[in-house]
Amino acid sequence: MDNRPIGVFDSGVGGMTVLKELMKKMPQESFVYLGDTKRFPYGSKSKQTIIELTKEGMEFLIKKNVKLIVIACGTATSQALIEVKSLYEIPIIGVLEPTTKYLEETGKTNIGIIATAGTIRSKGWEKSILEKIPSAKIQSIPCPLLASMVEEGWYDNQIAQLVINEYLKDLKPVDALVLGCTHYPLLTKVIQKQIGAGVEIINIGTYVAIETEKILKENGMIAENNFKDIATKNRDNASNLKVYLTENECKFNEVASKLIEKEIQAELVKEEIEFS
Ligand code: DGL
Repeated sequence: MDNRPIGVFDSGVGGMTVLKELMKKMPQESFVYLGDTKRFPYGSKSKQTIIELTKEGMEFLIKKNVKLIVIACGTATSQALIEVKSLYEIPIIGVLEPTTKYLEETGKTNIGIIATAGTIRSKGWEKSILEKIPSAKIQSIPCPLLASMVEEGWYDNQIAQLVINEYLKDLKPVDALVLGCTHYPLLTKVIQKQIGAGVEIINIGTYVAIETEKILKENGMIAENNFKDIATKNRDNASNLKVYLTENECKFNEVASKLIEKEIQAELVKEEIEFS
């Protein structure tokens, strides 16, 4: 049993799509979320920069006494997970492996991936999928504008539809489309409209939540069920959530509150760690 919170890290609001799944699956847990909004977007930055920023994020969360960290960001996972895992003793989970496991288990071979330019350039998804499914046919499409549109709250309007149409116009038929950036689940409705109802859209947060619970169980680190009102999984556990941002001149609170259907008032990171 371990009542310390779980740390969740992203460059912005995208990781909230993962947090939503974590909270649904583990209502007994509490969470500390860090959105590095000051240095958003990560998708257009170099690998070395992403490693540096991710290290700072890990150190901030470790100082908050978290028991495990979820890197709820496709870009940081594909470019910095290996490096940060080797630096810290705390368990750190990325978003690629849990999703790839699901694709393997469900026999998907014809797979589309959309993600930030940096993630696609890293070939992280391709490597991870081909390791488990060597016969997989993969189409990877970088979508550099989408994460910024989500940060702006433009995920269900005509502009979103036009941009998605443009990015996906050359996608050949697939069994599944992986939303390889955690911002993209907010665009699910418009993406599904473009690719058709028959294609499964993979929201990576679902599989990250399954993996996180598994690791906590294996290590005896599940929090004690110590909330009086935990009768259902819909229990209001927003009070067990602390959200920090490195910059608050953004629409984070608005987009995040709508997404997780709870009022979010993020706190600005102060001088606890030098975010340059
Ligand atoms: N949410 C991040 C991801 O999953 C990316 C957004 C960005 O910073 O470019 O890749």
